[in-house]
Amino acid sequence: KQDLIEQARAVLVRNDRGDYTVPTHGLYPFQWNWDSALSALGFSHFDEARAWREIETLFRHQWDDGMVPHIIFHEMNDGYFPGPDVWATGRAVPTSGITQPAVAGFAVRRIHARAKNRALADAQARALLPKIHAWHQWFYTNRDPQGTGLVAIIHPWESGRDNSVDWDAALARVPTEGVAPFQRRDVAHANPAHRPTDEEYRRYIWLVQHFRGLGWDNSRLHDASPFRVVDPGFNAILIRSCLDLAALADDLGEAEIASASRAYAQAGIAAMDALWSETRGQYLCFDRATGELIDSPSIGGLLAAFCPIPEHRAQAIARRLDAIGAAVPYLVPSHDPAAHEFDGLRYWRGPVWLIVNYMIADGLKRAGQTRIVQRIVDDSLRLIEQSGFAEYYDPVTAEPCGGSSFTWTAAMVIEILN
Ligand code: DGY
Repeated sequence: KQDLIEQARAVLVRNDRGDYTVPTHGLYPFQWNWDSALSALGFSHFDEARAWREIETLFRHQWDDGMVPHIIFHEMNDGYFPGPDVWATGRAVPTSGITQPAVAGFAVRRIHARAKNRALADAQARALLPKIHAWHQWFYTNRDPQGTGLVAIIHPWESGRDNSVDWDAALARVPTEGVAPFQRRDVAHANPAHRPTDEEYRRYIWLVQHFRGLGWDNSRLHDASPFRVVDPGFNAILIRSCLDLAALADDLGEAEIASASRAYAQAGIAAMDALWSETRGQYLCFDRATGELIDSPSIGGLLAAFCPIPEHRAQAIARRLDAIGAAVPYLVPSHDPAAHEFDGLRYWRGPVWLIVNYMIADGLKRAGQTRIVQRIVDDSLRLIEQSGFAEYYDPVTAEPCGGSSFTWTAAMVIEILN
């Protein structure tokens, strides 16, 4: 155990660039939003100041409207596409123009709660509190303009589950006409069979060009995007962060932020139930452009358990995980192994991701589903022991996929073993 923790620490140290951490050398040479927040959890076990700095750096690049971008291009590197010239967001330190799962509120609450250096933790949390709240406000203002209680993503990259089967139909409606010719860089660093397809990339880039043409004006992008999907996992992360931010605000005596955050979370929790599918025994995504549920049994509908859900729903998700766990040796595959779209190697169309395992386990533990939580934790550690700190893993063979020496995978191992 101590050995694994040491190895995981070495991965974090190797990817540390001082004020931020790269997800992995080569494939992802900048700072990514949710990678950073989750990686800070790993740092916090051996260097609290460094953990705080990671999140502080992320929020230093928050936009004036409150958005926290998904990539911050701290240093130039032509090994990544799409780079700052494609995004053209006009920021002094270039950033992308879209966001990512809002896990920072959760991470900050957790790091603060267990901090040994209380003075530092209070000071850092106090400084971050209004910034994280502004990000949450940004979400509910710009990505839920009708006030449904749930926010939409406008680009698959925002979900963090880039090429999930969930997006197939909605992405197929995104045109590819007028996409400037480009050369992908990811496939030079990772096996192309583990990555999204060229066809998906053309649509990803069409959306980027479209938003760029609208001047990255977030008050317009939601309605102007042909891709508007409500992801239960994404919303669960945001809801959980709102609740954690509320608890933190209570501790710090910030009553206004506490009550506003709780109101967001309550509206979200109430609205989430409409995404439940009795046939699938899990939550599903909702396509806001067509007004229909997306009948795709992915991990997004299981990650919903990261926020409070009714007890009978948590039980149903545990049953669903039992069934999936009988079909593959390693939980939790990012897509139902019984579905014909399942691909155990291709990014978010089947592989296991440790960060999602961690969040699902955390939510189900709170819901009292301890048996399935133990299975998820055991499977996660078996993957690490067999295949190292990969970006993701084949749930059938444990083959390590994508990038190696991966920061957030290592951070999750430190979290799990402490
Ligand atoms: C990538 O480049 O694959 C990232 O996931 C996009 O953020």
